[in-house]
Amino acid sequence: MANNSPMRKNKDANPLSEGKIRELELSITNQCNLNCHRCGFNIPNQVTPVNGEGIDEHITSLRLLKTCGVKVEKIVIAGGEASLSKSLNDHLIEIRKVGISEQIEVVTNGLYPKGITKNTLANLDSLVISDYVMTEEFENIWRQYIKALNYKGNIEFRRKTAWDDLLSEVNNDPEQTRHHWSTCFYRKYDVTLERGRLFSCSRIAKKRWDEQGLLINSETSVSDVSSYLAAKDPRTACYSCATIGNESNIPVAVQTRNNMAKIILKAEQYMRESL
Ligand SMILES: C[S@@+](CC[C@H](N)C(=O)[O-])C[C@H]1O[C@@H](n2cnc3c(N)ncnc32)[C@H](O)[C@@H]1O
Ligand code: SF4
Repeated sequence: MANNSPMRKNKDANPLSEGKIRELELSITNQCNLNCHRCGFNIPNQVTPVNGEGIDEHITSLRLLKTCGVKVEKIVIAGGEASLSKSLNDHLIEIRKVGISEQIEVVTNGLYPKGITKNTLANLDSLVISDYVMTEEFENIWRQYIKALNYKGNIEFRRKTAWDDLLSEVNNDPEQTRHHWSTCFYRKYDVTLERGRLFSCSRIAKKRWDEQGLLINSETSVSDVSSYLAAKDPRTACYSCATIGNESNIPVAVQTRNNMAKIILKAEQYMRESL
């Protein structure tokens, strides 16, 4: 549902639930096998999620957050497309070892099942498949595939009718922006860790507006984190955010390259042959 859909009950954004970050999103790659028109992560030009130190930088930030007393309910690994990372399993193990999060989730387009192995699934609490194929067959074959790999965690197929416009920049009314900030869906479910900083939402991280994030270092305290996330005033980014006052209007997974049918066929074939 859109950030500002009239259907959505405007619940308080309260980004921390009993002192815990509900969902902390991080990217382990900025590569993707799809090229969705107006992708909210800006594929194929998604900014690097780390400053060149690879996953170690995420691990350092997570350790620092843990040391200062921050708790996380669920770490959500997004992309680009996480299944393309040859080190996905190692990364999942390293992230779990930090011990900051109760659960780990991977969000995938489900179109490179070769990258979601038995080991991947053994290290996951939940798997979200953004279902761009939208056929019974695709879902069924995924269910059979994970069953054959003995997966016991949660699975969710995320089917959307439209995506929020996360990249456009508009001129929002300041009063409306302040009002929206207190209920913004993304503040609640899309806190992002990127380049050693915490961001109120992935939009700010993906725009590389790093000065609007909170630098995590050995001096960071839990109250710095809660003051940042629960700030009274919107971030500068919010005054240009097109999700305020607008319904979702980005068509889902429209490709800028004409190769999706081939990718789907290959993915389904791979899963069928693995059964
Ligand atoms: C950007 S994708 C990246 C992870 C993975 N490659 C995938 O396709 O699921 C992560 C999630 O963001 C959601 N999303 C929201 N707004 C979006 C937008 N404008 N463009 C792309 N994804 C968007 C999609 O529903 C998807 O489940
Ligand atoms: S930029 Fe502000 S209003 Fe837009 S999604 Fe992020 S937190 Fe919400």
